[in-house]
Amino acid sequence: MKAELLQVRNLRVYYQTAVGPLKAVDDVTFSLKSGERFGLAGESGSGKSTLAFALMRLIKPPGYIEGGQVLLDGGDLTKLSEDEMHKVRLAQIALVPQGAMNSLNPVMRIKDQIIDGIVDHSNEIPRSALEERVPELLERVELGPEVANMFPHELSGGMKQRVCLAIAISLSPRVIIADEPTSALDVVVQRQVMLTLGQVQESLGASVLLVGHDMGLMAQFVDRIGVLYAGKLVEVGSVREVFKEPLHPYTQLLIACLPSLEEKGEFKGIPGLPPLLLNPPSGCVFHPRCPQVMSRCSLEVPSLEEVCPGRWVVCHLYTEVKR
Ligand SMILES: Nc1ncnc2c1ncn2[C@@H]1O[C@H](COP(=O)(O)OP(=O)(O)O)[C@@H](O)[C@H]1O
Ligand code: SF4
Ligand SMILES: [Mg+2]
Repeated sequence: MKAELLQVRNLRVYYQTAVGPLKAVDDVTFSLKSGERFGLAGESGSGKSTLAFALMRLIKPPGYIEGGQVLLDGGDLTKLSEDEMHKVRLAQIALVPQGAMNSLNPVMRIKDQIIDGIVDHSNEIPRSALEERVPELLERVELGPEVANMFPHELSGGMKQRVCLAIAISLSPRVIIADEPTSALDVVVQRQVMLTLGQVQESLGASVLLVGHDMGLMAQFVDRIGVLYAGKLVEVGSVREVFKEPLHPYTQLLIACLPSLEEKGEFKGIPGLPPLLLNPPSGCVFHPRCPQVMSRCSLEVPSLEEVCPGRWVVCHLYTEVKR
């Protein structure tokens, strides 16, 4: 069995607001094995980007990590000093942030943006060696060497996203977090970029945490999936099992909404509104929208249970199940 590379334990990330803390990530626990592809799926506002930033220790005020652990090879990233964390970023764990391709500097050539990214995290490599590394990195993300001298406006969306991926892998990280890496791209380009991400991951021997709202796309890429609802991870399992037999009523609705596994399917049409995180419903946060709600659901908070090996769910329908 593969070793667990990244373990997220009881992670809580809040935003301070005038009326109290907004629990954007609330007691989230999951792990990522070496070489594994794990998908984190959830509606907009469910806390995906907050979680991705927290793993990188990039949460800025009014956000803060309230508690929990992020263990990379057993060492807790939440305990590192800012200097220590700076060395870990990009070299060990890298993020392609949501909307990254729109934050490329419009007046800088691509090669300088890639080199700056590396220099920012490791100033031990001489400039000449960095210049040589650029075409090699571009090739890894299936871009030609001519892209090095181009500006962002000369590139298509898919090419820009590949540049962002090249920056993320420039120091050969062991964990690549990709936050909605293809959401701004059309379907054909999405598939191509995902194929490249897969190839890059395999050649580096890295693990990938893919964050997104497109269950169909995710199902084609990841090995295991976790479903986030209102800052809570409500179900975790292998993609095959979760799609074959979703356990949590929310996951059941999400999957029922998909046209088919092969087609692109986005979250849509689940009755009710996502809860306001500032004032979440009592008991199970999903209870106002749940078709299978029971009397205890608004009173008791369900806990994370492993209902069978590798299948985790947070729902009172399963709390009586003996392992
Ligand atoms: N800087 C911020 N200040 C206050 N609340 C925030 C901030 N950033 C995000 N949030 C809130 O945190 C929750 C999760 O947001 P986010 O992590 O962006 O979700 P997702 O990526 O799943 O769409 C949302 O309710 C959002 O409004
Ligand atoms: S705990 Fe109750 S309300 Fe929540 S998902 Fe399960 S059945 Fe539905
Ligand atoms: Mg997001």
